[in-house]
Amino acid sequence: GAASKGEYRHYMLKEIFEQPKVIEAALEGRLSANSVLVESFGPDAQALFQRTRQVHIIACGTSYHAGLVARYWLERYAGVPVQVEVASEYRYRHPVVPEGTLFVSLSQSGETADTLAALRFAKTLDYIGSLAICNVPGSSLVRESDITLMTRAGPEIGVASTKAFTTQLVALMLLTLSVSKAKGQAEYPDIIAALRTLPEVCQRVLALDRQIEILSQAFAEKHHALFLGRGAHYPIALEGALKLKEISYIHAEAYPAGELKHGPLALVDSEMPVISVAPNDDLLEKLKSNLQEVRARGGQLFVFADESVGINAQEDIRVLTLPHVHEALAPLLYTLPLQLLSYHVAVLKGTDVDQPRNLAKSVTVE
Ligand code: G6P
Repeated sequence: GAASKGEYRHYMLKEIFEQPKVIEAALEGRLSANSVLVESFGPDAQALFQRTRQVHIIACGTSYHAGLVARYWLERYAGVPVQVEVASEYRYRHPVVPEGTLFVSLSQSGETADTLAALRFAKTLDYIGSLAICNVPGSSLVRESDITLMTRAGPEIGVASTKAFTTQLVALMLLTLSVSKAKGQAEYPDIIAALRTLPEVCQRVLALDRQIEILSQAFAEKHHALFLGRGAHYPIALEGALKLKEISYIHAEAYPAGELKHGPLALVDSEMPVISVAPNDDLLEKLKSNLQEVRARGGQLFVFADESVGINAQEDIRVLTLPHVHEALAPLLYTLPLQLLSYHVAVLKGTDVDQPRNLAKSVTVE
């Protein structure tokens, strides 16, 4: 059935490998030849997006990281200012809601107590409307929001979220393209074309599993790890660090690579693995010089890089090459090797991968 592990040792691994299929499902019927179908968000979406002058995104945990990626996308491709905040902070402060603000909640379960309370609180404020991006049809968040988009990841059993996150990213890219289109702005046929090839490109990344398993051996005895990214890959670094913490119990932190000098560099020595994502975007040269700073302190570098970036493996740098993808979708693709890395480290450490200590799949009490 939908919730059996089948040939896989853990639900988490099964759910990682389901990503090409569920990403395809998340796109199904939501694109036309070279455009996004705004009505995927419901009949009222066109009018709402047309009026949208800014967006407030609220979520918890992994869903919050998806929101952070969406900020880069909505600002860059739709020209709309975005704030992203964890629900437990948002609901207890006094947020200012400028005219024309859309409230967006992100949740796998649709039942996270703080996210639901944030939506209920937002309804007392001057938003133009609420959108829920959610994986569970009929959940409280879905029932109580004005418009919704389902992520279609299917049941996610592993406590550490994987396919729910990447399908949220697909939904958020559809939102970005829809807001831009509804406002009569640019359309992005290149991104639409890249979205269509995404399931196949993800499949090629998952084929690197065995190589990532070999890399994971370097982490089994470590107590700390540092994840670096720039731009929209900073939230991917945060998500990579969260996965490692959740299931392997290794202390991990993520930093935007440009902040390295402002503190974390002091922690770097030969015992500190530093994981970095290096897609081929306009921040690549800056990232490369950040990586040199790590090498100069004897740090062990692990780089997930685009095939075209020309970072070569050396004694102190291990490089895993990923297929090229449209720059807009790179955050989604680079999530996959980080999921697999955490998974294999956790298996080596013998933790309860699907049910990590002290954590719950859905936090329904505050
Ligand atoms: C818990 C889960 C996380 C999840 C978070 C938010 O902490 O362990 O995997 O990201 O809740 O859950 P939601 O269902 O709202 O996305």
